[in-house]
Amino acid sequence: MGKIFRIGIIGSGGIAGEHVRAYKRIEDVEIVGVSDILPGRADEFIKRWDLQQAKGFDDHRQMLEMELDGVSICTPNVAHYQTTIDSLRAGKHVMLEKPMSVTLEQAVEMVQVSKQTGKMLNIGFQPRYDPNMSLIKDLVQKGQLGKVYYVETGGGRRRGMPGGTFIRQDIAGAGAMADIGCYSLDLALNTLGYPKPLTVSAYTSNYFGTNPKYHPEAARFDVEDFGVAIVRFENDLVLNFKTSWAMHMDTLGATMFLGTDAGMKVLPGSKGPWGGVWDGNVGAVSIFHDIQGHHTESIIPLIDHKLSVFEEKIKDFVRALREGGPAPIPGEQILRNQAILDGILRSSETKREVEIHIPDIG
Ligand SMILES: NC(=O)c1ccc[n+]([C@@H]2O[C@H](COP(=O)([O-])OP(=O)(O)OC[C@H]3O[C@@H](n4cnc5c(N)ncnc54)[C@H](O)[C@@H]3O)[C@@H](O)[C@H]2O)c1
Repeated sequence: MGKIFRIGIIGSGGIAGEHVRAYKRIEDVEIVGVSDILPGRADEFIKRWDLQQAKGFDDHRQMLEMELDGVSICTPNVAHYQTTIDSLRAGKHVMLEKPMSVTLEQAVEMVQVSKQTGKMLNIGFQPRYDPNMSLIKDLVQKGQLGKVYYVETGGGRRRGMPGGTFIRQDIAGAGAMADIGCYSLDLALNTLGYPKPLTVSAYTSNYFGTNPKYHPEAARFDVEDFGVAIVRFENDLVLNFKTSWAMHMDTLGATMFLGTDAGMKVLPGSKGPWGGVWDGNVGAVSIFHDIQGHHTESIIPLIDHKLSVFEEKIKDFVRALREGGPAPIPGEQILRNQAILDGILRSSETKREVEIHIPDIG
C-alpha cells in the first residue's frame, strides 16, 4: 500500500467516536493521536475504540508535535478557535466540527491562518453528502426555478434540548441557532451557491431552556432555544429561517424556494423525530409550475440510498488529503454562515435589523 494518512483527534467526547468509526473504515488512514483536556480521557477513548497505534495527550499542542497529516477537531464550540489555529500553524490540515466558531472575528482569523499556512480548513456539515440534498441543489443551480427570490427553511425539535457544554453562551457561542440552525443555513446557502448576506433581523427566546419544568439545568441555561431570522442577500434574495430545540409544535414547516419560473417544496422525511430538512432528512420534493396556464405540481423522484452521510464527510476529507486539497467544505465559504449567526445574536439583542460585514480576507 502507498502512503498512510496519520490522523489526530482533538476532543474525545461523543462526536469524536463517530469520526473514529468513519476513519476506521478507510484503509489508508491510521489514528495515531488523541487529545482531551480532561486528564486520562484520551487514554480511555483510545482503549474504548481499540486504537492500538494511538498515543493519548492531555494537551493538544503536545499531540501537534507529532507527524500528522490531519486532525479532527471535536471539542465544544468555544475551543474550536484555538485548537484550529494551533493545528494549522503546526502544519496540519483540519477537519473541524460545526459550528465553525463562537465569534465572527475568530472565524475570520481561522480562515486567514488557513490561507497563510496553505493548510485546509474543512467544516463538517455532513447533510451535504445526502444525495437528495445534491438533487435539490442541482435543481436550483440548473435553473429549474428561474431566479430564486425567497427561501424559507428551518425546523428543529419539539423537545430536544441538549445540556452540558451546549447551553452556555461562553462555551457554545449560541444555542439552537448555532447548534442546528447552522445546518439549515448551510442547506439554503449551499443550494443557492453561498450568496453574500447583507442584513439580518432576528428574534430569539429561551422560554423552555430556562424553565425547570422543561430543563434540568435551567439555572445555567443562557442561550436561545428558539430563533427566527429574516436575512437579506445580494441580488434581491431573502431567507426566512427558524430553528427550535423545544416548542409546542410538531414542525416548523416545509422548506421552500420561490423562483420566477417555478417553486420547490421540500418536506422532511420520517427518519427521526426532528421535524426538519436541516439534517438531510428529505421526505418529498415537488416543483410547482405552470404548464400552458395549468397550475402543475411535479413530484421529483427521490434518490434511494444507504449512504452514511457522516462516513461520506470523513471520506471526502481524506480524499482531499490524498489529492492535496482543496477543502471540500472550505472555512472561507462557511464564514458567511458564521456571519449570519453573528448578525442574529446582535439583532436579537438590539431588537433591530443589523448589517453584516465580512472583512475582505484577500
Ligand atoms: N456533526 C454532527 O453531527 C455533530 C453532532 C454532535 C456534536 N457536534 C459538534 O461536535 C463538537 C463536540 O460535541 P460533542 O457532543 O462531542 O461534545 P462532548 O462534550 O461530548 O465532547 C467534547 C470533548 O472535548 C474535550 N475538550 C474540551 N476542550 C478541549 C480542548 N481545548 N482540547 C481538547 N479537548 C477538549 C472535552 O473534555 C470533551 O471530552 C461540538 O462543536 C458540536 O457542535 C457535531
